[in-house]
This record gives sequence, structure tokens and C-alpha cells, in this order.
Amino acid sequence: MARRRQLYEGKAKILFEGPEPGTLVQYFKDDATAGNGTKKGIITGKGVLNNRISEYLMMRLAEIGIPNHFIRRLNMREQLIREVEIIPLEIVVRNVAAGSLCTRLGIQEGTRLPRSIIEYYYKNDSLGDPMVAEEHITAFGWASTMDIDDIVALTLRINDFLTGLFLGVGITLVDFKLEFGRLWENDEMRIVLADEISPDNCRLWDVRTHEKMDKDRFRRDLGRVEEAYQEVAKRLGILPEAGMRDLKGPEMMQ
Ligand code: TMP
Repeated sequence: MARRRQLYEGKAKILFEGPEPGTLVQYFKDDATAGNGTKKGIITGKGVLNNRISEYLMMRLAEIGIPNHFIRRLNMREQLIREVEIIPLEIVVRNVAAGSLCTRLGIQEGTRLPRSIIEYYYKNDSLGDPMVAEEHITAFGWASTMDIDDIVALTLRINDFLTGLFLGVGITLVDFKLEFGRLWENDEMRIVLADEISPDNCRLWDVRTHEKMDKDRFRRDLGRVEEAYQEVAKRLGILPEAGMRDLKGPEMMQ
């Protein structure tokens, strides 16, 4: 059987044409990058785990009425998604100070923030995804004020829900990044959650020990990266069917 047409290859995922119009297949790679591509590596089994973790979180979010692009998981590394027009913004939510917030503002890592903070970054690799204000977003037409209102409302609900979900399995949701897209249905546009939610784009700390269970282990060469991703899946009760032994998974569905 012929391979499906590849539409886009990103740092951690590949998008293929889906089986029906308006659908895509999202393939999760083991490739990891940090520092906007300056550091590259492989985290064995990451694609399989992120496919499963993102499936689980998107399904749980759908249950509370957060519209998202996920349709169903196809196999160990692939999921069927709705094709959306991606809004060129990365929405970062922070509950505890970490990462660039600390370097930018000199705040001690681990400081609980007085309230959740939302930041916007313009999705543009060649510019290194610069931070932008609402003014830039509306002035350059990346999203309207109404779109931003929808995005903020959804983001705050997602943050509340995921904070509780992770806390229930002994994990602090420190911060995370979301992407949204526009879904057109009969001339009506809806903003829906897109991309993925996984330890690649969240900071997850053990509640008790504060041990990092996310991509910071790769970014900062802390070791035991695979084990951290596995531990997140294990705590969520969703290790891949084949268990820990077969995280490589099938290469690709034909
Ligand atoms: P930061 O502290 O480096 O700004 O990252 C904040 C959160 O956003 C962290 O959970 C990692 C995530 N993130 C991404 O997923 N992709 C990115 O390109 C960046 C800069 C951050």
C-alpha cells in the first residue's frame, strides 16, 4: 500500500494526510530538541508515551467540554486528528516560577506565583518564538480580541482541570504550553485546542520530592529522561498496552 502524503514535519511530530477530508494523522517521533533546535537528541519511547499521554489528556478535556482536535488513537505512534488552521501562537501558562520566567525576571525557581500567569509567544522558529503582547497579536492579525478572549477562557479552564488531575497522581503542574486552531464547520468558526499535551511541553514536578518529570531532564542533562516520561504515564495509569518493554512501537501505519 502506498504511504500517505506527508504534509509537515516538525521537531517532534509529523503530519500526514488523513483518511477523510478534514482529517490528519499526527505521528509522534522520539526526536527531542531544546533551545529552539540547538540541542538535539533521541528519547527512546518518547513518541509512544506522548501519543498515549496526549490522547488521555485530550479525551479527559473533551469530557469537560474543552473542544479539541483529537479524534482517536490509531496505533502506538499515531493519532487521527481534525485538520485545523493553526493560530501562530504558543500560549504558556505558569503556576510556579521556572524556566524562562526565572531567567527573565530573576525569580527563584519553585516560587509559587500569586496567580496563574498567561504569556503569548509568536510561533516562528527563525525568530526563536519571541514573546509578544496582545497588542502585537491583534495589530498583526494573528488573532482577534474575541479569539484571544476564547483562548484565555479555555486556557484557564484547562489549567484548573489539569492542575487537579496531576495533583491527584502526586504531580505539580508547574507550567505548560498550548496551541489552538480554528475549526470551520458550515461557515461557523470555533477555536479548538490543538497540538499535544505531554511532558515535552509541560513542566511536571513530583509533589513531594520536586523531582523533574519532564523535558527539563533532557534540556538540562539530568539523566533518566525515558524513566521520567514513563513515570508520568504510569501515574496516570496509561502505560502503552505492550508495557515498558516495547516502547519503540511499530514504525508507521501504512
Ligand atoms: P519556558 O520557561 O522555557 O518559557 O517554557 C514554559 C513552558 O512552555 C514549559 O513547560 C515548556 C513549554 N514550552 C514549549 O512547549 N515549547 C517551547 O518552544 C517553549 C519555549 C516552551
